Amino acid sequence: MELFNVYPVTPINIVKAQGSTVWDEQGNEYLDLYGGHAVISIGHTHPHYIKRITEQLHNIGFYSNSVLIPIQQQLAKQLGEVSGKEDYFLFLCNSGAEANENALKLASFHTGRKKIIAFTKAFHGRTSLAVAATDNPAIVAPVNETENVVFLPFNDEEVLTQAFKDFGDEVAAVIIEGIQGVGGIREASVPFLKLIRSLCDQYGSVFIADSVQCGYGRTGSFYSHDYAGVQADIYSMAKGMGNGFPIGGISIAPKFKASFGLLGTTFGGNHLACAAAVAVLDVMAQDNLMANAQEVGSYLIEELKKFDEVLEVRGRGLMIGIELPTEMGHVKKDLLLKNRIFTGEAKPNVIRLLPALNITKANADQFLTAFAERLKA
Ligand SMILES: Cc1ncc(COP(=O)(O)O)c(C=O)c1O
Repeated sequence: MELFNVYPVTPINIVKAQGSTVWDEQGNEYLDLYGGHAVISIGHTHPHYIKRITEQLHNIGFYSNSVLIPIQQQLAKQLGEVSGKEDYFLFLCNSGAEANENALKLASFHTGRKKIIAFTKAFHGRTSLAVAATDNPAIVAPVNETENVVFLPFNDEEVLTQAFKDFGDEVAAVIIEGIQGVGGIREASVPFLKLIRSLCDQYGSVFIADSVQCGYGRTGSFYSHDYAGVQADIYSMAKGMGNGFPIGGISIAPKFKASFGLLGTTFGGNHLACAAAVAVLDVMAQDNLMANAQEVGSYLIEELKKFDEVLEVRGRGLMIGIELPTEMGHVKKDLLLKNRIFTGEAKPNVIRLLPALNITKANADQFLTAFAERLKA
């Protein structure tokens, strides 16, 4: 049997990893500033993470949500504290798409409404509702097409206000990334996020903060939407939550009422996934990783702005987009093949940095030196 060929693959076989370093099968060493799409949050193979997961596996790896799983409560407590949302509720699932799917469903159950507002260049995942709210027709199957999702221009206050005037009483939810990831590292403006909050309050709609990529401490705040000083009704999360162990979740404001069967999953919230997520939060707290993300991220952003060739540097903390002119489309590939540094990309020509939250200033300097070399080449 062959694999279903849906991924353009870089021909590198990573066989070992530690912190922000990975090695291929020939023993070549690479600096990982991408973490496999923003997933590696506390560094590869962190000793506390390995210990916590190993211990859990020796006790029990999985049982379904039909029995008590106390480690879920422990995770909820730690997550409530670190995110400053102690009065919110936690629903656990397995991925970012599933988190958004449940967030959108919950908004619709809660309001009894059908319409979702999403924005240009948004990416919310590949399950049916999440993909319908994703601004990429190429990945929306005919069966996922729906008139219930309305796309509006990102950061356009006037258009959003008018849309609510026109059909606000039909809007179940507004879903927005605090910083668009796949869309090219574009920040939602503070006034725009504040406007979403006030319109959702005025019209009884649900504000969903997609924090799958931009959340979990990456920007220096727990949720990237926090910098706008607004509270969303539901936060979706995944990626950095398990440092590679599949886990996702939604943090749900107290006004939502749970009832048996409203949401559900077989695997979500299993013992092993929760052990991974608890280990991540332990390390984030012990090693003050949000502060590090803020500090090393600001340093990188300031230094990157000094390169004349760079058209724009966008982002916050360790979620950084470097926009280059089209003729420099080779830089990302050269960084990997010539300097052995993994980075990400966004179309048309943005290099995305999404490293572990504990990268050092020395790692940042290694990248800056290599980047300067590549720009000159
Ligand atoms: C903002 C955002 N939301 C949702 C998702 C979907 O997450 P997953 O791939 O875990 O389903 C992604 C994945 O890239 C994302 O960046």
